[in-house]
Amino acid sequence: MAGGGGVTSGSGKNYPGKFTSKVFFTCIVAASGGLIFGYDLGISGGVTSMDSFLEKFFPKVYRKEISVKPSDDQYCKFDSQTLTLFTSSLYLAALLSSMTASRITRGLGRRMTMMLGGLFFAIGAVINGFAENVLMLIIGRVLLGFGIGFANQSVPIYLSEIAPFKYRGAMNIMFQLSITIGILIANLLNYFTAKIEGGWGWRLSLGGAVVPGLVFFFGCFFLTDSPNSLLERNKFEEAKVQLQKIRGIDNVEEEFNDLAKASEAAKLVQNPWREILTRKYRPQLIFAVLIPLFQQLTGMNVFVFYAPVLFKSMGFGNSASLMSALITSVVNFFATLVSIATVDKYGRRTLFLEGGLQMLLCQFVMTVSIASKFGTSGNPGELPLWFSMLVVIAMCVYIAGFAWSWGPLGWLVPSEIFPLEIRSAAQSITVAVNMIFTFCIAQVFTTMLCNLKFGLFIFFAVCVVGMSIFIYKFLPETKGVPIEEMTTVWKNHPRWSKYFVQKDLSCEMGKL
Ligand code: BGC
Repeated sequence: MAGGGGVTSGSGKNYPGKFTSKVFFTCIVAASGGLIFGYDLGISGGVTSMDSFLEKFFPKVYRKEISVKPSDDQYCKFDSQTLTLFTSSLYLAALLSSMTASRITRGLGRRMTMMLGGLFFAIGAVINGFAENVLMLIIGRVLLGFGIGFANQSVPIYLSEIAPFKYRGAMNIMFQLSITIGILIANLLNYFTAKIEGGWGWRLSLGGAVVPGLVFFFGCFFLTDSPNSLLERNKFEEAKVQLQKIRGIDNVEEEFNDLAKASEAAKLVQNPWREILTRKYRPQLIFAVLIPLFQQLTGMNVFVFYAPVLFKSMGFGNSASLMSALITSVVNFFATLVSIATVDKYGRRTLFLEGGLQMLLCQFVMTVSIASKFGTSGNPGELPLWFSMLVVIAMCVYIAGFAWSWGPLGWLVPSEIFPLEIRSAAQSITVAVNMIFTFCIAQVFTTMLCNLKFGLFIFFAVCVVGMSIFIYKFLPETKGVPIEEMTTVWKNHPRWSKYFVQKDLSCEMGKL
């Protein structure tokens, strides 16, 4: 592995150490937690567009779908709250479980939380694979949701804690890369299972989730906890040995002392949930809420969940719809690699802003083209090839923009900006907000499409403008800053420095 050497960070710290193969493999195994999230994100859209699945569990939607003629309003043919409840029940469960997970990550460590995540997910997958009625489907999905809540709460912070600060961005984005792999595998599987004779292919798609669940669960046996988490639980010796191993050197004094200091400060905090509401954490709290909210308001999940449904609504055939969904997930995967290669070089702010601009341009193209063909009646007539190509290309460029900006940074930035004492609680807030809005998008999308028609894309475009301005004005750059030194970037930011004045004064008084 390449040697990292000593690097001076944005905060002036210089920790020696190498980029070891141990840290690399640890990050890969932990990041596989993203597989379960991605698999689920990718599988439900395809399954809910399979006729045999609809006929068995949602016969009303099925009858409506087959009775829609090409001349009817295509925007509204999938509008059913029960169907969307199937997709979105999981996100509600994930939201609740991420709150519990914060206690477990703090008390029992990141690793234990990750293991539980894998286990819940695998059990949920089995129940879904054998489902005979809607209740079984929902119970299965709730368990999957618990799995995802636990994993998303613990994996991003674990990765940010383990990685050498110089490579923290790239290592953390392995989580997002796994999400995109999960989505890709799910779409690929759907493409084939949809063709299985006898209409039981959906069982394979839903039950197949057991594989990523078990991969993640068993992978965790090969991990040790992060030094930060070990210190948090008073395991000093073990923390030091672990730090020496992952940094590949014996002399880890400086970094270890800083981690130990951060951990001592963290122990003074009895109740992180109350603490996070105090004024001194206001800047971080604002980002814990807004980053995941904005990530969802980019509109990306409309494509992730409903690409097949969306393409079908636009008159593409069954197989063409799943195929287009497959293409978009390949783009999602490759574009995430770009983010890995650039995030620690150009920084988080540059990627956020470039990605935002790119998404905006594509939303504009999609709005104009869909409006010109479908109008407000939703009846497109014959769709020419150039039209389909244009929509698919615009969608791919949009997805690439998301995949190297808001996708990975939506998980990376929250996981690195919080001090240890509130890190677990704050990450739970991030996961919860992410899940609430993933739920909202999943739940209201088909209704929004039915009512807003092509205006749906205008809605998301306006959101993208707002969030880009917010990032430009308020997000401090966090690249190259050691995780336990992060408070300095807030203190030095013109907009946020005032929140730290009080703290400094009290420190001064303490010294007196
Ligand atoms: C988001 C998901 C999204 C996925 C797409 C993730 O970062 O949290 O909501 O579906 O990226 O790749």
